[in-house]
Amino acid sequence: MGLAVVTGAGQGLGRAICKRLTADGHEIVAVDQNPNTAAATAEMLGGQWRQCDVSDPESVAALADSLDQVDVLVNNAGIWIFAKLDAMTPHDVRRVLEVNVMGVFNCTQALAPLMGPGSAIVNLSSNAANSNSPGVGIYPPSKAAVESFTKQTALELAPRGIRANAVGPGMIQTEGTQVNYEGEMGERRARAVPLGRTGRPDDIADVVGFLASNDARYVTGQVIYVDGGLSAGRAAL
Ligand SMILES: NC(=O)c1ccc[n+]([C@@H]2O[C@H](COP(=O)([O-])OP(=O)(O)OC[C@H]3O[C@@H](n4cnc5c(N)ncnc54)[C@H](O)[C@@H]3O)[C@@H](O)[C@H]2O)c1
Repeated sequence: MGLAVVTGAGQGLGRAICKRLTADGHEIVAVDQNPNTAAATAEMLGGQWRQCDVSDPESVAALADSLDQVDVLVNNAGIWIFAKLDAMTPHDVRRVLEVNVMGVFNCTQALAPLMGPGSAIVNLSSNAANSNSPGVGIYPPSKAAVESFTKQTALELAPRGIRANAVGPGMIQTEGTQVNYEGEMGERRARAVPLGRTGRPDDIADVVGFLASNDARYVTGQVIYVDGGLSAGRAAL
């Protein structure tokens, strides 16, 4: 147990992950670009908080300077801007890559030097890394990059006893995705999932907690999909 830094911790999966890591005995540092929500998570759980934009190397350097030792890093902050190919703007593409890919890189590079043997990194990928659909822009490629970078990180940090894994959520209802689950849409999505329901934030947080724990001490460079079976296929009609 020790200090656990969670990015994108002001709501959704990040907040649920903070809850689980606190229950496991970690002191959390809730990191978000939104200082109000980061502070609310920390206040709720009795941890620390920092404002940080993970896409900005200087902001991440300030975060690293404020910490002495890190035992768990969860790179959870992520965004999506959905558009079809003909409507995608270079600005939107850059922004998604800056947060989802550069954000994971920035935090890993800045905080890994503060981590020691037995510590763990967990990155948030997505079922979308392997399962594309029209109109979701650069989001799937950004998460495929997260998965590849997770393996790279695992190999480079293994000699220092630091593990790195990723979790790929399926359809999880959070503040960020709630609009996709209203009314009939939510029922339709639930019917597509082999386990018969869409996901809850604690479904993800529990697997992140496992990967961060000593129970996963021999697991590194892996991606675990937590999606009710969606990556195996669709539910029977
Ligand atoms: N919810 C799902 O169904 C789902 C599915 C697959 C993958 N994911 C991934 O899980 C992660 C969390 O998703 P969520 O649904 O909880 O999202 P959310 O939108 O509800 O919350 C994201 C949080 O990240 C913060 N954030 C965004 N950009 C940031 C930045 N540049 N720096 C710091 N903080 C930033 C936001 O302020 C927000 O608090 C994301 O990486 C997302 O891609 C979610």
